[in-house]
Amino acid sequence: MPDSTCFWINGRLLPEREAVIPVTDHGLLYGDGVFEGIRFYHRTPFRLSAHLQRLADSCKAIRLALPYTRTQLTEAVDEIITIFPEEDGYLRLMVTRGSGPMGLNPAGCKQANVILIATRLEMVHPELRNEGIRLIIASTRRLPADGLDPRIKSLNYLNHILARMEATQAGVEEAVLLNGQGRVAEGSAENIFIVQGGHLATPRPADGALAGITRGLILELAAKLNIPAREVPLTPYDLYTADECFMSGTGAELIPVREVDGRPLRHCPGPVFSTLASAFRKQVAEECKTRACKPREGEPKESEPKESLS
Ligand SMILES: Cc1ncc(COP(=O)(O)O)c(C=O)c1O
Repeated sequence: MPDSTCFWINGRLLPEREAVIPVTDHGLLYGDGVFEGIRFYHRTPFRLSAHLQRLADSCKAIRLALPYTRTQLTEAVDEIITIFPEEDGYLRLMVTRGSGPMGLNPAGCKQANVILIATRLEMVHPELRNEGIRLIIASTRRLPADGLDPRIKSLNYLNHILARMEATQAGVEEAVLLNGQGRVAEGSAENIFIVQGGHLATPRPADGALAGITRGLILELAAKLNIPAREVPLTPYDLYTADECFMSGTGAELIPVREVDGRPLRHCPGPVFSTLASAFRKQVAEECKTRACKPREGEPKESEPKESLS
């Protein structure tokens, strides 16, 4: 872990060597737990309430009692952002089933573990943000929605990891997972959008897409900018023949795609992508211009001017 990484577990900030949970935690034994990935800019978590809502919904869906209130989690986020040595970073918030006897039955797990990590994150090389990434369609499929609802952000990413390994093996940056019916679901850790004839389209959660918070924001911004947008089933053919394609996610932010399965796309970065990417930056700057938590010692106070993100 980079030196700057900070850890909070079950209410306490801890140095890395003490940031441990028991190996009998069902999060490790069975991937039994849920998580969120949250970015902060200017020491302000972006869309925190949407992330906390999704976390609460994921917990509810898997009948996992979240031992902290939304206010307590917000305070924990503020606490870790305050001690983090940089203004911008990434938070990983995890809730595991907790320690219990061997066996799938979680009844013996009496207390969930809540873990918060603040770190630096660079998902893609900055050059690729301009040039665009290459995708393959992975042979590994997204789990069916009636097997595990894609809206649950669970700790089990094994098929996404296998898909990402296929991308690496093929010498490209990212993989697209299809659902069992051969429809496009999403990337290994991002949602996917295409533009065709000026219209934006993205798969529905029912097709296997996580209800991404960045995805939601893109749809909001498209509505504001009068860009027609639809949540519709898409096939690999739709990706191959799109005018533009891009990925969205908290870690990835917005990344243009230049090639799918060896077929170059018409525009990369395309005009619709560029419009949305700049609106996204503006939105982040607007929502994160004030600090949600107190400044670190020696830092300018709230009223003093700060750099703009855009
Ligand atoms: C499988 C998957 N899809 C999509 C996303 C993007 O979601 P969000 O924009 O909420 O980060 C993520 C990111 O965590 C993800 O892991």
